Formats: sequence, C-alpha cells, structure tokens
Amino acid sequence: MEKYSIFGGKILSGEVIISGSKNSSLAILPACLLIKGKVTLRNVPNLKDVRFMLQVIESLGGEFTFEDNTVEIDTSSLKSFIASYEIVKQMRASIYVLAPLLHRFGEARVSLPGGCAIGNRPINLHIKGLKDLGVEFQLEHGYIEGSVDKMKGQEIYLDFPSVGATCQLILAGVLAEGKTIILNAAKEPEIEDLCNFLNKAGAQIEGLGTNSINITGVVSLSGCEHSIIPDRIETGSFTLLGAAVCEDLVIKNIIPTHIEAVIDKIKETGVSITQEKNTIRIKRTARPKNIDIKTLPYPAFPTDLQAPFMSFLSTSDGFSIIHETIFENRFHHVAELNRLGADIKTEGQTAYIKGVKQLFGAQIMASDLRAGFSLVLAGLMADDETIINRIYHIDRGYENLENKIKKLGGDIKRIK
Ligand code: UD1
Repeated sequence: MEKYSIFGGKILSGEVIISGSKNSSLAILPACLLIKGKVTLRNVPNLKDVRFMLQVIESLGGEFTFEDNTVEIDTSSLKSFIASYEIVKQMRASIYVLAPLLHRFGEARVSLPGGCAIGNRPINLHIKGLKDLGVEFQLEHGYIEGSVDKMKGQEIYLDFPSVGATCQLILAGVLAEGKTIILNAAKEPEIEDLCNFLNKAGAQIEGLGTNSINITGVVSLSGCEHSIIPDRIETGSFTLLGAAVCEDLVIKNIIPTHIEAVIDKIKETGVSITQEKNTIRIKRTARPKNIDIKTLPYPAFPTDLQAPFMSFLSTSDGFSIIHETIFENRFHHVAELNRLGADIKTEGQTAYIKGVKQLFGAQIMASDLRAGFSLVLAGLMADDETIINRIYHIDRGYENLENKIKKLGGDIKRIK
C-alpha cells in the first residue's frame, strides 16, 4: 500500500489551479445513461472515483474515452440493468444509476450500499421519492429490485435536504410523465451543475440552486457538451492549506461564492483573504484565533471541510468547538491528529479543540477521503517527518495532490 512521507514545518508559496468537481462528475456521468447520443464532458478530474464511475457505466454497456480531462461518452446501446454488490460497495455514488436504469429498462437491480466509515448512510429518501413516482420495489438478498412502466411526476417532500436523494430524483423526474416538484431539495452547487447539464440535453428543470426544484418531464434527451464546475471542496482544502502554511497562495479556476461560508470562517481566525472573479489569495497568520464551527447543508459550512478545518484549528490560540450535524461518525481523524500532538476531545457529534503551539511528525493513517486531506495538512504543519498510511482514500478525490503541493515548495513524497 502506498504512503505519503511529508517533512513539514516549512512555509510554502505559489499558485494552485483547482480541478473539476468530483461530486458534479459523479452525478453527471450517470445522468449520461438517460441520453441516447454522444455527450462530451470537459474539466472532468482524473480521479479514482471518476474512473470507477466510468467502469460502472462500461459494465452496463456504455462506451467512453477519457483523455486530457475530457470524457466522450455514448450509452445508446446499454445491455444490463444490474449494478452488483462488488460495484456499489466500492463507491456509494454508484447508486445514482438506479433512476436512469429504471427509465432505460423499466427495471433495475442495484445492490444496497450498506454503511461506510463516516456513517450508516441509508438510501430511504431515494427509495421513498422513487416510490412516489410509481416505482415498485422489493428487497432481495441485499439488492433492491425496482420496476415501473413509466414514472409519473409528483410533488415529493424530502425530510432532509439529502444531496444524493435530490440528484436521484432529478434523474427520475426529467423523463417522468408530467411535473415533478422536489421540496426541501439540497442546494449544493453540484446539483445546480447537474441540472444545467440536463437542461443542455433538453430537460426542463427550473428552480436551480433553490430548495424547490420544478421539473417538467420530456420524452427524450439528446447529446450535448458541458464543462464541469471547479471543485469547491478542493478549493476549500487549499484555502485552509494557504491559511495554515503559506506566506502567499493564489488559488485559480474557482467560484468563490461556492465557499463563502468557509472563507468567512477562515477570515474570522485572522487570516487575510482577498478575492477576485475566479481567484483568491491567502496569507497565513502566525497563529489563528480560536473559532466555533457547525456543519450544515449548503450554503452553510460543509461537512467535507470539517476534518481539514480541525487540523488548521489544532494550533489555534485558544479553544475551538466543532459540531458535526451531517454524518454521525466523522471524527476518525481526531485520534490521528492527537498522535501528532494535537489536544482534541470528542463527545458525541462535538469536538473540543485546545490549540497547541506546534504539531510534531508521527506515523498516522487516513480513514476516508477528507480525513485523509486533513492529515496531509497536519503533516505540512508539523515539525519533522509524518508518514500517512492508506492514502488510497485521498486518491479518490484529490487530483495530482502531491504535485500541486510540491509546486508550492512542500516536501511530500509518495512511497510505494
Ligand atoms: C454527498 C457527497 C459527500 C458529502 C455529502 C454531504 C457525493 C458523491 N457525495 O453525499 O461528499 O459529504 O453529500 O454534503 O456527492 N440520508 C438519509 N437517507 C437518505 C439519504 C441520506 O438518512 O436516503 C442522510 C445520510 O445518512 C447523511 C445525510 O442524510 O447523514 C446527508 O447525506 P447526503 O446529503 O445524501 O450525502 P451523500 O449524497 O451521501
């Protein structure tokens, strides 16, 4: 298994260019299953999760090429409506194929995802919404089997603004008969990107970026071109890296409004951030002020940046509190940060961080993607060498991470 070796405690500087959004790509690629015709997607990040979603589509009969961050994809001749346990257990977002397969075949057999490191992550809201549109389900041997003649538009209220359920129901509504209205929908920018893509393909979706999405079903969708939005979580990750260890960091190819809550919170710690249209500039302070954070659905502070922000606050001048409200088990990084000398305690969904003056290198282990980045950041902040095990988690969602950090002057190496 590969590891990172990081010699931290250095002050970095330079420019970084943000890649396309992982989560947009993971919703838009399965959306291609709804389209009989060629689709061209640009600014697609070359990530393990994206390559895996392409394999899922190939296993169903879709054809693609993926070069220079451009995917050309054609799913005209699908041959299978089954997404197996082997596929879904490797990546939960594979569940997005459910609604498209129901449209293409009138039936679908998809493995239930099961839990993962950060929580139970049920799909009850996906299933309830699809049932409202007329899909009948049965559960057999760990698989959900759905069938439907033709989905019929309905008003669907989500008990919680789930990103996954909102995407799934948009994929269902665009080809359903009549109007589908999703109330209390998630408002994440990746969902807006999915809707913009589908509208280019001929869908009729209104209320983009709001919590009430109105879809008028159409008979078919056709091939189109689309460029994926910049990854706001990678943007936030590098903004924190700048705040923690950079004399002067310029981050390019971003949409600053997508990470306003994060920028505000970083500024509250005393870090200087200036922004222009697609760029921000960050200059670290010697020691950040302590602040409190609560994770919530977009546009509030994102759960995906909770772990990296905790690394940043681990050396703050005071006592900070982070409350995680989205996932029930998202503090695996705490024990690893404490191995580096941080002083963090947790009680339920709350972490209490007593800032220390300095972190020190040690052997640590990534438990999931964002916890993985939080450890890279902590390794860059720590004195001496930090070895991070299980970096395959990080490869799922950060394109060229070590090269981007090396260009800033960071001492990070992948060890085979
Ligand atoms: C997506 C993102 C992930 C991000 C998360 C929250 C992708 C591929 N992943 O995950 O990076 O951390 O949004 O911003 O886009 N829930 C239910 N029932 C459901 C669905 C969800 O109870 O049917 C719960 C989940 O267990 C969780 C919460 O709702 O506690 C949020 O989940 P959701 O917004 O659906 O996140 P994902 O789509 O899984």
